[in-house]
Amino acid sequence: MRSLKDKKIVAGICGGIAAYKTAGIVSKLVQAEAEVQVIMTHAASQFITPLTFEALTHRKVFTNLFQDDPLAHVELAHQTHLLIVMPATYHVIGKLASGLADDMLTTTLAATRAAVLVIPAMESQMYTNPIFQENCRKLRALGYRFLGPESGYLASGRAGIGRFPDEEKILKEIETIFVDHSLLSGLRILVTAGPTREMLDPMRCLTNKSSGKMGYALAEQARTLGADNVLLISGPTQLQPPEEVDFLKVESAEEMREAVLAQEKNFDVIVMAAAVADWRPKRISTHKIKKLSTSSLTIELERTPDILHILSQKKRKGQCVIGFAAESENVIENAREKLRKKQLDLMVANSLIQENAGPESETNEVTLIHKNGRSEPLPVMDKREVAYEILRRIARLAKSK
Ligand code: CTP
Repeated sequence: MRSLKDKKIVAGICGGIAAYKTAGIVSKLVQAEAEVQVIMTHAASQFITPLTFEALTHRKVFTNLFQDDPLAHVELAHQTHLLIVMPATYHVIGKLASGLADDMLTTTLAATRAAVLVIPAMESQMYTNPIFQENCRKLRALGYRFLGPESGYLASGRAGIGRFPDEEKILKEIETIFVDHSLLSGLRILVTAGPTREMLDPMRCLTNKSSGKMGYALAEQARTLGADNVLLISGPTQLQPPEEVDFLKVESAEEMREAVLAQEKNFDVIVMAAAVADWRPKRISTHKIKKLSTSSLTIELERTPDILHILSQKKRKGQCVIGFAAESENVIENAREKLRKKQLDLMVANSLIQENAGPESETNEVTLIHKNGRSEPLPVMDKREVAYEILRRIARLAKSK
């Protein structure tokens, strides 16, 4: 969450049962080096104490409009980049929509021109109340951002809409508010992801260890960063395709080759994040190969097409082609050699024997190899952040072409 560094965020905590969940979010924002100031309504402090937030933020929590400085709400309103209201209650949303300001939170909200993110959570009956819905509509029309709520288990024991969203979803939304939404504007980006699967018989296959997380994160971030068009071509994974991204599912290296080559002319940037199998069985058995009495089995393999190599051969002027190199030894040298041979614009080198990285991990540690051979190591980061850093370099590259 590098985009949150030094951002001034006011977390306005209201009196709903989900107030206890906001402590985790505040802690994550602090860890991302945002400057977080907590304001609590009187009702919020019935659910969770200011002390919790003071310990997390190392700052005094505002609970009272007239606590120390009677103009604190004006100062805060001016300085802040983002105000988050969570869990936004029926009452606080009602006050906001009616233009009422009678405590530290609502006066700060009244005085600010910064972005406001409202995250409601309450019982379904209250959430679906037409008065409440009308208030939300009004605030949305005035530019307030809303997130959630979700359907699921509620504090009353009933199930329904009104549940506070997951921490991860909220943090993603906050991050999105701060990124440059036009960084990739004017660019059409094709990303490949996941492994390919090369069948041996109807049951068995050769594949690579790949979850697809890195490629999916690249496609999702490319969309967030304003790319005109994003196409994700993916081998078999367990992941949901990101929203607002065109999606093509393939299985084998040959299918991926066909899909990529049919599409590449429509794209300015091609990122080959897929772990394409290099070998496939020369013959695919139509029936399951039986064990019978043989104690060993020899399978003849043949090379699959090297999609990245084909792309680099037919690359048109102004097009950027980016590769990934997964290596278990001499990571930088091998990646540099692949970049040179395939005439890439950028290579992302991954070590296969590193901690905090690898297919199943949520984090990754990569080194970027630039066209002039310069290597640029990036710290261990969440795959979404790694994607953001890669795309930042791509934006620069593509715009300099
Ligand atoms: N790649 C590809 N087609 C293949 C194999 C790999 O397009 N048949 C792409 C991958 O998507 C990746 C890059 O090539 O972007 C490098 O993949 P990697 O497996 O690290 O290297 P290879 O070039 O296959 O070389 P080697 O397996 O010998 O290390």
